[in-house]
Amino acid sequence: MPPTRDSSGTLRLSGADLSEVSGGTGTPLYAYDIGAMAQGARALQAAFEGQKHLVAYALKANTAGAVIRTFAAEGCGGDVVSGAELRVALACGIAPEHIVYNGVAKTDDEIDLAMSSGARGIGALLVESVEEIARVEARAQAVGRKARIGIRVNPSLDLAGKTHAHIATGHDRAKFGVPRDDATAAAGLIEKSAHLDLVGVSAHVGSHFNTVAPYVESARVVFGIVRSLRDAGRARSLEFVDTGGGFAVDYAGDASPPLPTPADFVRSVRAAQREHGIDDLALYVEPGRCLVAAHGVLVASVIQSKVTATGRWLMIDAGMNDLLRPALYQARHRIVPLRGDAPEAAISWRVVGPVCESSDDFGEHLLPRDPPGQVAILDAGAYGYSMASNYNGRQLPAEVFLRDSRVVGHTVRVSPEAWAQARARAGT
Ligand SMILES: Cc1ncc(COP(=O)(O)O)c(C=O)c1O
Repeated sequence: MPPTRDSSGTLRLSGADLSEVSGGTGTPLYAYDIGAMAQGARALQAAFEGQKHLVAYALKANTAGAVIRTFAAEGCGGDVVSGAELRVALACGIAPEHIVYNGVAKTDDEIDLAMSSGARGIGALLVESVEEIARVEARAQAVGRKARIGIRVNPSLDLAGKTHAHIATGHDRAKFGVPRDDATAAAGLIEKSAHLDLVGVSAHVGSHFNTVAPYVESARVVFGIVRSLRDAGRARSLEFVDTGGGFAVDYAGDASPPLPTPADFVRSVRAAQREHGIDDLALYVEPGRCLVAAHGVLVASVIQSKVTATGRWLMIDAGMNDLLRPALYQARHRIVPLRGDAPEAAISWRVVGPVCESSDDFGEHLLPRDPPGQVAILDAGAYGYSMASNYNGRQLPAEVFLRDSRVVGHTVRVSPEAWAQARARAGT
């Protein structure tokens, strides 16, 4: 559940008072409701009804062990994009066969690791170019294993204006995927190799689409390719089709009409899969954001206010190094006080972080005239901590994990002293 405010004006996440959960780590602090994440995963699983499927949680959204273990316990697999993400997925109990690996530039070591994990390697290495096929084939030969390959197709759609340009991936000018016109030839290369098995065809059209239309359009490209391969008597080893992630999140909290739910996305692609007569294949999806964003907040302390002729500024201790999305994607997150929300007494504050960049700016927000001691930045559970950095010599934020009103774990911050010592040693 997103945080709620009780009758005394206290902001609570998973029932816990957010100002009391830091366990002494202080702010900036990410707090997550992992019980609510589990519920979201269950609701999404239910949308598949009897259909063979895999919810491959996109780890890039949030790589915390407590989060990944929660999804693994709900029967989810993982979508990884690096050897390190693959390692954390395995360490958190996701079975190798339930992992798909996207990435335009997998190194030989990463390919070897994927092929060597478990009895048969991971579920699929999703190749993103025709050229990558020969490299995976050479590694399979060297490692002495047959590689399980999926083709990530670039559906080449016109996505202008449908989401932010930085997170639109399924268009002609994007680096991602095998161009749709080359997909059949790519399948041919895989099928004729003694070292490769073609097990899947996938696409990920991009992230944060507010309607199901681009997602279904992209899925139809995948399904169409599979249909025509089968019509030609090919692709007999196929096990799954994968329609990627990208389900929307209502960051403003007031979408009207309400945004489609993850289950709505799944129901729409299931219908298209049936139409293509390929519903014997498992349907894989790769959601990240929709499973975690709303169930995480970034708690920050107000350091300083400043009133100038041009505006009222609130400087908080969380910056773009803690939550990059506003600077990177011009994303807007709601910001609310931890205690005593009184919207009628609110005035507009420009909330900014401590980093020496003008883009370290969370925008204008209605907050009490007397600046609150602490604020929560909402919907920060996805692409928050996972994009955090030490820029400006700042520590990575702390994390706290909540379930049923209880704190079930913390991530401890690396001290500024340790960071300074490590950088001082650099190059010595
Ligand atoms: C290949 C792939 N799959 C899935 C996702 C997850 O997208 P989202 O978090 O929007 O669901 C991404 C996001 O970048 C991706 O690149």
